[in-house]
Amino acid sequence: MAGVEAAASGSDVQSGNMVFKPILEEGVFRFDCSADDMDAAFPSLSFVNQKDRDTLLLTTKGKPSFTPTFECVAGQQTVKIELPAGTTFYGTGEVSGQLERSGKRVFTWNTDAWGYGAGTTSLYQSHPWVLAVIPSGEAFGVLADTTRRCEIDLRKESTIMFCAPSSFPVITFGPLPLPVDVVALFSRITGTVFMPPKWSLGYHQCRYSYDSDIRVREISRTFREKGIPCDVIWMDIDYMDGFRCFTFDKERFSDPQSLVKDLHDTGFKAIWMLDPGIKHEEGYFVYDSGSEKDIWTQTADGRPFVGDVWPGPCVFPDFTQSKARLWWSSLVKDFTEYGVDGIWNDMNEPAVFKTVTKTMPESNVHRGDAELGGCQNHAHYHNVYGMLMARSTYEGMKVADESKRPFVLTRAGLIGSQRYAATWTGDNLSTWEHLHMSISMVLQLGISGQPLAGPDIGGFCKNATPKLFGRWMGIGAMFPFSRGHSEKDTSDHEPWSFGEECEEVCRLALRRRYRLLPHMYTLFYLAHTKGIPVAVPTFFVDSKDSKLRTNENSFMLGPLLIYASTTPDQRVHEMQHTLPEGIWLSFDFDDSHPDLPALYLQGGSIIPFSHPYQHVGEADPSDDLSMLIALDENGKAEGVLYEDDGDGYEYTKGEYLLTTYVAELQSSVVTIRVSKYEGLWKRPKRRLHVHLLLGKYATLDAYGVDGDSIQITMPSESEVSDIVYASNKKFTSRIETARQIPNVEKVSEAKGIALSRTPVELKSSDWVLKVVPWIGGRILSMEHINSVMLVNKQRKWSLFH
Ligand code: NOJ
Repeated sequence: MAGVEAAASGSDVQSGNMVFKPILEEGVFRFDCSADDMDAAFPSLSFVNQKDRDTLLLTTKGKPSFTPTFECVAGQQTVKIELPAGTTFYGTGEVSGQLERSGKRVFTWNTDAWGYGAGTTSLYQSHPWVLAVIPSGEAFGVLADTTRRCEIDLRKESTIMFCAPSSFPVITFGPLPLPVDVVALFSRITGTVFMPPKWSLGYHQCRYSYDSDIRVREISRTFREKGIPCDVIWMDIDYMDGFRCFTFDKERFSDPQSLVKDLHDTGFKAIWMLDPGIKHEEGYFVYDSGSEKDIWTQTADGRPFVGDVWPGPCVFPDFTQSKARLWWSSLVKDFTEYGVDGIWNDMNEPAVFKTVTKTMPESNVHRGDAELGGCQNHAHYHNVYGMLMARSTYEGMKVADESKRPFVLTRAGLIGSQRYAATWTGDNLSTWEHLHMSISMVLQLGISGQPLAGPDIGGFCKNATPKLFGRWMGIGAMFPFSRGHSEKDTSDHEPWSFGEECEEVCRLALRRRYRLLPHMYTLFYLAHTKGIPVAVPTFFVDSKDSKLRTNENSFMLGPLLIYASTTPDQRVHEMQHTLPEGIWLSFDFDDSHPDLPALYLQGGSIIPFSHPYQHVGEADPSDDLSMLIALDENGKAEGVLYEDDGDGYEYTKGEYLLTTYVAELQSSVVTIRVSKYEGLWKRPKRRLHVHLLLGKYATLDAYGVDGDSIQITMPSESEVSDIVYASNKKFTSRIETARQIPNVEKVSEAKGIALSRTPVELKSSDWVLKVVPWIGGRILSMEHINSVMLVNKQRKWSLFH
């Protein structure tokens, strides 16, 4: 072991520099308080291979750039790392509030955080991980490898502090030249995201709850009738028989198989919820078989712990035991026979009602497998519970059908959960603040190793307004995981529920998503195979540029930059866009709209896109393929496209096609060609449509056959400026004539009139606003006005609250 520093020891306080060893790859170091602590550490549940944390790297060239110090008092370990002045912090996993985490403090403790706010310090997942960007632009990552409640304190300038109740190793990554290098290294070590089935990158429609098969059919039919793309419909808890997992309500979901068949016939997948709380009820087959196998989490005195969740008193599988995970996965396997394409694991912090702590007692006992850490109390395993449930669900789906990729969504998680499940940002609010935060939340999860994440589009709690909903759909359609969801007793939150203008914005937004799916799927392949994050903050493009480091209105999907407005009164095209240095060419799909984000492609890149299908299954590899090309200052560009079956594992045997396309300008001719490819797939015979971006939404187009060279002759400079001028004019007129979603947050005048206790109408040139009293015409105060009717000139009604 190199560079061990002596620890100063007092009576019951120990402190000093941590001891280190280089592990695994150049630039990764493991630190512990002492050699004894190193030997006695609990196994890592975040490393993809637990043994990696002990694997000494013999060929190391360097020593750590930054050495943490520690202090241990009565078993509690505090670790501090001081970095150069001017360092900024990111990561810390699923956290609300601002993108830059400097000045913040969080506590990793998975919590059912209904209606959380910007300052909530514990959400549903635990990521004791910080990405530091030092003033030179280099990045450095630090993981506190503990499952325990861990304080991450970033309040002291350029200092990272972790504190947990028991001893833990610290792993450092870098410094490396780019933030993306650190995230990719961290992801490879903690496990990259599972390869998602392609359909799961489509749009998902959820609701608490579509509570009958009739309603589910109606929703799916409306998507197709209205030409709004969608791939998945979700069934929340009300499909169950009295909230009993693995059962179906006998009346409202009497024949799940034929419901799923109908959904499949129209190109939809079905995802069903499974919670960890199992109804404590003799005669219920899940309860009986779990009791017989003795797999429930126990109280300190050895009885099954009983706590309340949706069904009333429940017991909780102890997922730390392999026999419990096997039992659960075999239930999942049987469950898939009803036609289950994906499973949603909710409430798995685990949430327990009627308790102050919102979870089970920390003194509860988990009889865990030795390799996970053995028998320990709940305080030790609390943050692991959700991940192990998701793992067991994933394994059940995999066993059920080896030829399909499982899709699991989990609410609770730990670093490493991305190996088994996607995630969403829990019970957010239908507010502009939450729309804004949703961007940073998705980015922080990506920085923390979980690229497959998104918020409840439109907000879960409360009612969205049309403007908010449309904006959120515009941004949400660009997130890696894109799902609309809302709470019981809220107004309808489907894309068509907020009036024609909002419906059109949603249609445009989702058609954009479906056009960009070849690019998104390629990004997921790179995330799965190399750990490269899918959505990253804009400062990742140029981490030396300090003005980008706090930009919360834009993000990158590879070389594609998305710029969004998250305030009702500011149209995206009127905002000052802070872009990284270099060439950024704006483009659209003739779909620009004041309520949709602006799109830019970075000079030097090529991205693929396709037809805006109604669902993923509609696409065929032989369909036309399109490319967007943005040349760099040297007249060159490059990009990749990954293709495979979209599901299953044939790709692991080489059945895929990964193509690198290049473009080059030489003596006023741009040639686009395939520069290399890999994989056993034969290139489909298909037409290739290339769009060379000129800026300001202008393109030069050419067609050819994929695999052949395609050439575009550049017009003269004055012709180019004419094309750009005309295209910008078209764009401006499109923006000016777009049917805007009315901003109903400006209805104070109408609200004032509504207090007259009678329904009123307020007319403007385009709109008639009707304010309808809430309960039988009684309006007691402004808060009681929660139902407003908006009607356009054609007298089509849309209801919002
Ligand atoms: C809590 C989840 O966060 C929410 O998304 C879900 O709709 C409800 N539980 C009901 O299952």
